[in-house]
Amino acid sequence: SVNDEAVGHQTAATYDSAFLKACRREPVPHTPVWFMRQAGRSLPEYRKARAGTAMLESCMMPELVTEITLQPVRRHRVDAAIYFSDIVVPLKAIGIDLDIKPGVGPVVEQPIRSRADLARLRDLTPEDVPYVTEAIGMLTRELGGTPLIGFAGAPFTLASYLVEGGPSRNHEHTKAMMYGDPQLWADLVDRLAEITGAFLKVQIEAGASAVQLFDSWVGALAPADYRRSVMPASRKVFDAVAGYGVPRIHFGVGTGELLGLLGEAGADVVGVDWRVPLDEAARRVGPGKALQGNIDPAVLFATREAIEAKADDVLAAAAGLEGHIFNLGHGVLPTTDPDALTRLVEYVHTRTAS
Ligand code: CP3
Repeated sequence: SVNDEAVGHQTAATYDSAFLKACRREPVPHTPVWFMRQAGRSLPEYRKARAGTAMLESCMMPELVTEITLQPVRRHRVDAAIYFSDIVVPLKAIGIDLDIKPGVGPVVEQPIRSRADLARLRDLTPEDVPYVTEAIGMLTRELGGTPLIGFAGAPFTLASYLVEGGPSRNHEHTKAMMYGDPQLWADLVDRLAEITGAFLKVQIEAGASAVQLFDSWVGALAPADYRRSVMPASRKVFDAVAGYGVPRIHFGVGTGELLGLLGEAGADVVGVDWRVPLDEAARRVGPGKALQGNIDPAVLFATREAIEAKADDVLAAAAGLEGHIFNLGHGVLPTTDPDALTRLVEYVHTRTAS
């Protein structure tokens, strides 16, 4: 155990949690578990707390954010909480006219398509997001030794929403800019890196014990294009928060061919979706990084036996790793039976207890 001084504002209990130990690739008492999108529509208590309040509005209400963030920790006994927010919150905070439409996702009123549009992406300061500082302060007091994960959207994924104007299957406008006007694209993702780095710093300074950078849609790119057009901006985000000693997690869907580069961008932990087994993912990522993942979220709709067999497969593939955080390969699906999640946490804890 370390003393409080050595861990800054973080308590020794948090520092010594299974989740942070696994991020640091230290031995753990059990494999830590959390789920992307663990707070959300799969929980009846979430639907009740959110009733009548729009998504973006709720992200700006510290007491509601605290309650929703704590719900999956209470119910499932997961090893980490993830701050309840959305990847578009920092963009809203600097004045971009956007909304989150139920069943659709983030929609941007006036997409960013030209150099003149870049001027709308001003710097983010802590004063733009007082509700983040307040909510994280409340949360870290309530959570005790359970770590809180802060997060942000990565430059490519944010750019995709801004340039397309909403969710997109093929990212046509985004790729048109990336390939057709590489300087405008580079300037756009660099701006987003500045904003994202500042937003993560606010969360860490308020008490977040780890951060996850979601590049959810970057699997749409070939490795050479990722390296040239995205990696410099993602690296800039990781560099901005390198000095805190807080683990940095990086995740994207369908990124099997990019896993090595996601690590190279500056992550301490690489998140893996369900398409690549963790032993193979470890070969692609190389030494010195922990891995997070990777049950297919749809497996939770199968029988208990099938879910446990898949959990066994994940744990077997992870057996040789230095650091493993058990998670899904993407977010909890809204119609998932919450009891299946609770049982899975319990199963992984029991199976891996030392
Ligand atoms: O528990 C947690 O994981 C924290 C909550 C969280 C939300 N969004 C809440 C949310 C997190 C980590 C996010 C990140 C996010 N938002 C990502 C990256 C993660 C991923 O899934 O890849 C992305 C791509 C978004 C953009 C976004 N926001 C989408 C695609 C949607 C879903 C639209 C829909 O209604 O199906 C949202 C809305 C959103 N963000 C909801 C929640 C709980 C649903 C809104 C609601 O409950 O009314």
